[in-house]
Amino acid sequence: MTVSLPFDDWLKRVQHETEGALASFLPAAETLPMRLHDAMRYAVLGGGKRVRPLLVFAAGALFDAPSAVLLRAAAAVEMIHAYSLVHDDMPCMDDDALRRGKATVHVAYDEATALLVGDALQSQAFLLLSEGDADPQTRIAMLSLLARASGSQGMCGGQAIDLASVGQALTQDQLEQMHHLKTGALLRAAVLLGAMAGKALTDEEIQALDRYARAIGLAFQVVDDVLDATADSATLGKTAGKDAADNKPTYVSLLGLESSRALAHQLRNDAHAALDAFAHRGAGAQRLREIADLIVERKA
Ligand code: IPE
Ligand code: IPE
Ligand code: MG
Ligand code: MG
Ligand code: MG
Repeated sequence: MTVSLPFDDWLKRVQHETEGALASFLPAAETLPMRLHDAMRYAVLGGGKRVRPLLVFAAGALFDAPSAVLLRAAAAVEMIHAYSLVHDDMPCMDDDALRRGKATVHVAYDEATALLVGDALQSQAFLLLSEGDADPQTRIAMLSLLARASGSQGMCGGQAIDLASVGQALTQDQLEQMHHLKTGALLRAAVLLGAMAGKALTDEEIQALDRYARAIGLAFQVVDDVLDATADSATLGKTAGKDAADNKPTYVSLLGLESSRALAHQLRNDAHAALDAFAHRGAGAQRLREIADLIVERKA
């Protein structure tokens, strides 16, 4: 997908194509068991900023990756993300009733369905990566990367630390580690999946992308914490003020609002600096720079 489009047009295009890919990769709502498939589509379609797909496409553009492979990777990482949100909202976790401006899956359907929606989306994500046009070695590398990023040493591990930390005073290092895992891991996977779909990367390129990905991954959750404390539920499409109400350790509770905002800006600068390694590729890294800006400046 062309990088010559203005960022806003490019963003809408990726969001639109991702929506279409997700709709076609999910079983139809009429396929048995219908209630489960209906709930899976409810959880995934028609909402969300699609930041992870944007990262897949931006990194893919830098390495000339074929769009069919990128679309599959984008859909896979977005399905894992959607599953993580469905489970995150369940009563046994954050107990939220609002997500992407709609009732959460366990409220609109029921708890057992929400549990199964998450389980099935996770399987569907890995199924997607196991199929498609990429060569077998690339497919295995993508599967392995996404599995690591989602599991007990990635997103699930971060969620476990989050739940175990309610009411506790974490150090900044502990909080950073929790945020890197629960949110950073999947964002990093999105960047690397996009890159991996293209030409083989040098070690230096992998390290530079990794520095970028770690910076935006942490920045994303720092901003999520700030928005939870400052935005309203209608704007966010999810319940505002929930972190303080639930006594969660966050960047806002640890550093305060102003220092959290300053940290997010510092991380954006770190992300931009990491991309200097790709200066020889012309404007190729511009989209990744713009996504770092979006992550830090977003209002929802
Ligand atoms: C929310 O993620 C949960 C976090 C990892 C902070 P997003 O802010 O990307 O949620 P959607 O996909 O846009 O709804
Ligand atoms: C959740 O973090 C990160 C996930 C892995 C889903 P939060 O609990 O802060 O996400 P929101 O604020 O409910 O979207
Ligand atoms: Mg949570
Ligand atoms: Mg939550
Ligand atoms: Mg949050």
